[in-house]
Amino acid sequence: MANVKTEIIDGVGIITIDREDVLNALNRASIFDIKDAFRALKNNTEVGVVILTGAGTKAFIAGADISELAPLDSLDSIKFARLGQNLTNFIEFYSKPVIAAINGYALGGGCEIALSCHIRIAAENAKFGQPEVKLGLIPGWGGTQRLPRLVGKGHAIELITSGKIISAQEAKEIGLVNRVVSSEDLMESAIEMAKSILKQSPVAVRLSLEAIHHGMEMTIEKGLEYEASQFGVAFSTEDKNEGTSAFLEKRSPKFKGV
Ligand code: COA
Repeated sequence: MANVKTEIIDGVGIITIDREDVLNALNRASIFDIKDAFRALKNNTEVGVVILTGAGTKAFIAGADISELAPLDSLDSIKFARLGQNLTNFIEFYSKPVIAAINGYALGGGCEIALSCHIRIAAENAKFGQPEVKLGLIPGWGGTQRLPRLVGKGHAIELITSGKIISAQEAKEIGLVNRVVSSEDLMESAIEMAKSILKQSPVAVRLSLEAIHHGMEMTIEKGLEYEASQFGVAFSTEDKNEGTSAFLEKRSPKFKGV
């Protein structure tokens, strides 16, 4: 894959978008490459958590590649939006936790991809925004839908209609990122967070992600029903027997993920 690099460290899959010369802006080919990289790690039983980051120190993803975007007609632009939405949906509903390690600009489609990740850790130099209005466009990879769900309608409207760029600290204040760390510590912090998840039952982690993501699309009543059924599934697993026995026997659990 020309546009991404993948490595695996101690059960953590790291996908790095590798288009540093254009600040990791995403053209069509790179969207396909990112999805292929995620798909490969999904099928890899050694990998329990995935970290997504950008090459270099300046950008996570500076948005969709404007040179590819500019010539599109209305019909093709809808296809382009659907292509990006397909990727952000794929990430959001991924069965393993996805941590965005945001190492610089996360603008436009870059912010939207960060929004679709499950946890966001930002370097202190990271910058966030949905600057599409400056180009006469609107967010098209889920920004108008996921940003208000994450930070509330007021902050989302302010960001999307003004196109303003905010700092990592401001992003933290409105709940757009989970935490801000120094640039040098970014990958270490993301890996540490990944390892804290890897210690838990993989099957319980997956069931939790499903309950959260699918449940948020439902009414609270339906969501609670779904939660109860996922809770029931957990009780059919070996991990539940191991986890509860280990607690009662005062030892550390050895989870198998089944
Ligand atoms: N699409 C295509 N190319 C992009 C890009 C994008 N979204 N963002 C950056 N680049 C390219 C620049 O054209 C430049 O290429 P060049 O060296 O061939 O001229 C290179 O990346 C470096 O960017 P540059 O603008 O010189 O860096 P900067 O530090 O001055 O500014 C940004 C950084 C992120 C503020 C600026 O690049 C920018 O505003 N990018 C567009 C962000 C955007 O609107 N994203 C939403 C798209 S829908």
